[in-house]
Amino acid sequence: MKILGFETSCDETAASVVENGTTVHSSIIATSKETFSASGGVIPEQAARMQVESIVPVLHQALDNSGLTCSDVDAIATTKGPGLMGSLLVGATAARVVSSLWKKPLIGVHHTLGHLSSTWLGQAERCAFPCITLSVSGGHSDIWYRTSHTKGICIGKTQDDAAGEAFDKGASLLGLSYPGGPAIAAAAEGGDPHAYPFPSPLKGDSTLNFSFSGLKTALKYTLRDMKSDPRIADITASYQHALCMHLTDQLVQAISQYPEVKQVHIVGGVSANLYLRSLVAERCSIPVITPLLIAYCTDNAAMIASAAFFIHQESGIKAYEAFETSASNVLL
Ligand code: KG4
Ligand code: ZN
Repeated sequence: MKILGFETSCDETAASVVENGTTVHSSIIATSKETFSASGGVIPEQAARMQVESIVPVLHQALDNSGLTCSDVDAIATTKGPGLMGSLLVGATAARVVSSLWKKPLIGVHHTLGHLSSTWLGQAERCAFPCITLSVSGGHSDIWYRTSHTKGICIGKTQDDAAGEAFDKGASLLGLSYPGGPAIAAAAEGGDPHAYPFPSPLKGDSTLNFSFSGLKTALKYTLRDMKSDPRIADITASYQHALCMHLTDQLVQAISQYPEVKQVHIVGGVSANLYLRSLVAERCSIPVITPLLIAYCTDNAAMIASAAFFIHQESGIKAYEAFETSASNVLL
């Protein structure tokens, strides 16, 4: 089953053709991130306007690169939410138009479910259930216990900022560009992760939840109280270390609570972080699966087409109804 997917929830405009949830025939991503590098974050109106400019060229390129035609495509998928309303509307409108012109069914995909499927892209043979998935992006930070693609429970979540948001806000305090995650990771190269002490969030709390706002505040006060300019490599390395230790502390706890789990997956924009990957590999006792390409960590449409296939496989015709009726459908 070949699915053409769209993802336009924030500042990426993406289209992709994926077969059976795993074989990627094409994956095109246009981004307006550079526009926001100095502003510290995305300006929703501007992101939506750039979605409108990019959506048709991205669709054409995704089809051209796949070597397929509309008659080869079995279904259309799009991110139905959550995300920026204007941006989401562009992808949903494009998906609806293509679906009705080509007479193909339309499957709406929750953005997080897309990220959860991203480890299956190009390496399905390595992935198995039950698994624990740490899903960390600019909009959410969750730990999932999953028994299938569409069945699972959220066993931990952030109480305030998302992990990616903590990177973005930290970068802004340090005068680094948006998005903050890659900027902090680059600045931290060669730095001492123990040079500046940061508190451990939720110390003594027995849940698997996260809290990042205290780390951001600690960074703010550390910078305020400094007698001289900070050593950028050391302070970014220390801040990155504190964020990644908190993520891995909760992950290690989760693994110990679910001994039947055989592998841990990390997905979402923050899973591109190499320091996080090395800490997870070092501290978790079971195999760690990350998306095959860094481009599958951050927002992309291949993960949406993949999730749509698995939704269809596990719930059949209900997958199409879900687009209209799901409670998490913030859009239509
Ligand atoms: O999944 P994503 O592309 O979009 C959302 O669904 O939010 O994640 C974007 C987030 C941003 O906060 C960005 O700073 C973070 O992922 N990010 C990283 C890295 N690359 C992207 N965080 C840490 N290290 C990275 N290398
Ligand atoms: Zn995302």
